[in-house]
Amino acid sequence: MKHFLKETDFTTEELGDLLTLAHDYKHNKASSSQNNVLAGQTWAMLFFKSSTRTRVSFEAGLNDLGGHALFLSQDTSQLSRGESIADTARTLSRFVKGLIIRTFDHKIVEEFAQAGSIPVINGLTDFLHPCQSFSDLLAMAERWGDEKNLLESLKGRKIAFLGDCDCNMAYSLIMAANMGGMEISLAGPEGYAPTEKIEDLLSAEGYFPNHQFTTDPMEAVEGADVVYTDVWVSMGDEDEAAERTEKMKPYCVTSKIMKAAKSDAIFMHCLPAHPGMEVTEEVLEGPQSIVFDQTENRLHMQKAILAHLANAVSDQ
Ligand code: CP
Ligand code: NVA
Repeated sequence: MKHFLKETDFTTEELGDLLTLAHDYKHNKASSSQNNVLAGQTWAMLFFKSSTRTRVSFEAGLNDLGGHALFLSQDTSQLSRGESIADTARTLSRFVKGLIIRTFDHKIVEEFAQAGSIPVINGLTDFLHPCQSFSDLLAMAERWGDEKNLLESLKGRKIAFLGDCDCNMAYSLIMAANMGGMEISLAGPEGYAPTEKIEDLLSAEGYFPNHQFTTDPMEAVEGADVVYTDVWVSMGDEDEAAERTEKMKPYCVTSKIMKAAKSDAIFMHCLPAHPGMEVTEEVLEGPQSIVFDQTENRLHMQKAILAHLANAVSDQ
């Protein structure tokens, strides 16, 4: 059974196909079979955390592809009363064709995938947010590239990530950059560097980790094509809000930071944003910001991911 729990669940070649298909969906160039690939299918969406973009783009995307989305929260399912993940996975597998999960510990999505018999998509865990990073690669490729070879247009480009470098977005961008042949430099305070778990994962999947970490934001953004940031307090880290906010202040993406990157660099943020904290309002709303193009691409990329997984099931 094919799942999408982490970026490397797709090969680099498949990533190229996903970029092309997502671009086709976006520009109404997909075939009628691609547009109806989920006809008559119900997919469940089980969310343990809040969401605006992921929830709505998946619900709209499933509908666009002829399918139906069934939204479940942890609180309103029997999970809240102690039913196990394995039993929930086996139950849902009897009713629906696939499952999108947003949760805390990454092991929870792995457990769902292992115990169930339907494709599982990671809609964000504490470790990775792969639907976001692939959508972001599309936004970058569209900016730079030849639509006939979107993957190729990423090669040799540089991402600078500022802020909490031990969060899901930092790890997912490290994964995605590596697959896209890109460079990635991360800058954040001591204690918030990427940990060895990402090197271990990349190496285990046959990739060569090549990301860099520094505490100097100016060093990280030098020569960058993309300056990317995320919230300083991720869902689940609320108890540490005051300490994180204090430590991460030097990593706010300001106009000065943007000027230290390439002159045509773009600013990206997965959203939701906190203007005045991880990014100034001037940068977020300024001409280099492409944050709503990123957001829109969640819909197109997720449709491509859904189509790919549905086709993988029908080929079995
Ligand atoms: N970027 C993102 O995943 O947004 P939501 O938390 O609103 O889904
Ligand atoms: N790092 C953020 C991403 C939100 C889309 C969080 O996990 O809350």
